[in-house]
Amino acid sequence: MDLTQKIISLTKQKGFIFPSSEIYGGIQGFYDYGPLGVQLKNNIKNAWWRSMVQERDDIFGLDAAIIMNPTAWVASGHVSNFTDPLVECKACHKRFRADHLADKIKETEEFKKRSLSVEDAKDWGKVLEGVECPDCSGELTAPRLFNLMFKTYAGPAEDSASQVYLRPETAQGIFTNYKNILDTQRVKMPFGIAQIGKAFRNEITPGNFIFRQREFEQMEMEYFCKPGTDEQLHEEWIARRLGWYVESLGIKKENLRIREHEKSELAHYAKACSDIEYKFPFGWSEIEGIANRQAHDLTQHQKFSGVDLSYFDETTKEKYLPFVIEPSCGVERLMFAVICDAYLEIEGGRTTTTEATKEAETVLRFSRAMAPVKIAILPLLKNKPDLVDKAREVYQLLKPHFMCRYDEAGTIGRRYRRQDEIGTPYCVTIDFDTLANGDVTVRDRDTMKQDRIKIDTLADYLQRK
Ligand code: GLY
Repeated sequence: MDLTQKIISLTKQKGFIFPSSEIYGGIQGFYDYGPLGVQLKNNIKNAWWRSMVQERDDIFGLDAAIIMNPTAWVASGHVSNFTDPLVECKACHKRFRADHLADKIKETEEFKKRSLSVEDAKDWGKVLEGVECPDCSGELTAPRLFNLMFKTYAGPAEDSASQVYLRPETAQGIFTNYKNILDTQRVKMPFGIAQIGKAFRNEITPGNFIFRQREFEQMEMEYFCKPGTDEQLHEEWIARRLGWYVESLGIKKENLRIREHEKSELAHYAKACSDIEYKFPFGWSEIEGIANRQAHDLTQHQKFSGVDLSYFDETTKEKYLPFVIEPSCGVERLMFAVICDAYLEIEGGRTTTTEATKEAETVLRFSRAMAPVKIAILPLLKNKPDLVDKAREVYQLLKPHFMCRYDEAGTIGRRYRRQDEIGTPYCVTIDFDTLANGDVTVRDRDTMKQDRIKIDTLADYLQRK
């Protein structure tokens, strides 16, 4: 099993991630998040909200509807431009993204001879001339542009007048509320609006587990600023966001890098964009894009709505449509990166007790902030009522302060391993000395060091950790 497969299998076994509606065979591009997955997602979202909203005077939170007036998507350019080039195999009818096929062949001699550069070529038919279906070698259709927005209907009539879209980005709910924030929050330029919420893209080829899903959660912040200050602010946000991954998510610095977009890869609204990439087991891939959207969106919404969206600076008496810097990331991609970064397999195991099995041990070394369960409470033996009662008492004591788990099933060595596998930083063990002295053992997941701590100082001790 390769590393990605091992991680996928662990996340399923332990209750982080399940394929959606699995009992019916699942559905491609959709996943469900189990008890540990939802907790990890919440930890990521809380860390983002804290740094983007709670700790900032200049950024305001928002929760806009998923379904918007469809004209908003005409104005934003998504109806005409939010497309991927699609080709279909005439024999097996499998569908592919033309740009993904082009990426695969761009290093081949044949392709180089054609002196086409994938970066420059928008004429996918020409780029893919002679290329066969990678699955069955069948002939491919000419490429056509496929719009990624999911469509549905608002109200009982299923006609074009009631057709609406599931939002493909949360950003547009921010732009359409920009004036509401200006009018209600006493803001001064520059300022931001931050939002976390679901987005939907009908990807031609979802894949790499939760990396490319059709339903996902975005964390986006639009930072409005005076034109001319945008480039400097763009640089500042790139550096700030990179630092956040290390400081708040605990991701190793060496597994992160910045990649500036080529002009030809830029989204239809962007003047410049830099991605933060993570070194996944399947290669470096984007976890966040930080784009300079200029005044594209506000210009378009002003034009289509007829509402004046300009900002008037009371001090300088200038009136302008602000530019926008947008750090945008997907919660599940971050979650995948956090899990990959924490994953550690120890050959031969590291257990030093008689429980040693010499099997490989898996540890998820989540940072304290990311760990879904912070503390496990374990009575040494299950069949001793005094120990179990005391352990339940300690569990009740800690539960209001930390996400805890109580576990009495199996040998203590097995239980430590179970907690290591889900990344619990501390195990608190209640033994016979606890009954005599009122103290417990606190075992550290990473060092396996054990400290004796008095129960009445335990919550404080763990809080400090
Ligand atoms: N708002 C940027 C994106 O969805 O990619």
